[in-house]
Amino acid sequence: MGTRFRKVSLSPGQSDYIDQAWVLKQEIREESGIFHYDREFFEDLYTDEFVYACLSPDVGDMIGFTIIRARGYMSLLAVKAEKRGNGYGQSILEDSVKHFEEIECHVRETNTRAISFYKDFGFELVDIDKHYYDNGDDGLHLKYDE
Ligand SMILES: CC(C)(COP(=O)(O)OP(=O)(O)OC[C@H]1O[C@@H](n2cnc3c(N)ncnc32)[C@H](O)[C@@H]1OP(=O)(O)O)[C@@H](O)C(=O)NCCC(=O)NCCS
Repeated sequence: MGTRFRKVSLSPGQSDYIDQAWVLKQEIREESGIFHYDREFFEDLYTDEFVYACLSPDVGDMIGFTIIRARGYMSLLAVKAEKRGNGYGQSILEDSVKHFEEIECHVRETNTRAISFYKDFGFELVDIDKHYYDNGDDGLHLKYDE
């Protein structure tokens, strides 16, 4: 993990760096077909919830971020493709778990990299929600508590 990055925590009502976050979200949509939602939905999510992020030191680029709802439901976690495998995702989750007693999320059954990542961090399988995603993919419902 590079040492030159900036950590940011945002509370509901703040929308700092939303443009950089949108660019990263769209990159991942193009790369892997996940995170389909449009800008309006994304803006509501980003602005209304808690955000933990790593940015480049000049804050020009979003390296990675997560959006977590008040009760600890993680709607999105994303790290820029060329920065993956360097501990950014883990670091963002470590920041997040300091603020929530437990965190839950869903991950596509086909997203094996993310499943390994979450399990490695300590998330456990709660359930498999059949056809959870629009395209019919099942969703693994995962939960982390300390
Ligand atoms: C899932 C994601 C956020 C992980 O972020 P990352 O920064 O690459 O993860 P890290 O580098 O912090 O990995 C931490 C640990 O997870 C595990 N891990 C990461 N990638 C893995 C892989 N491909 N296979 C197995 N374990 C893996 C490793 O144990 C790693 O520990 P290590 O540093 O000792 O190797 C990132 O791959 C991503 O943005 N993917 C696209 C978006 C996505 O799928 N988001 C989740 C949707 S639910």
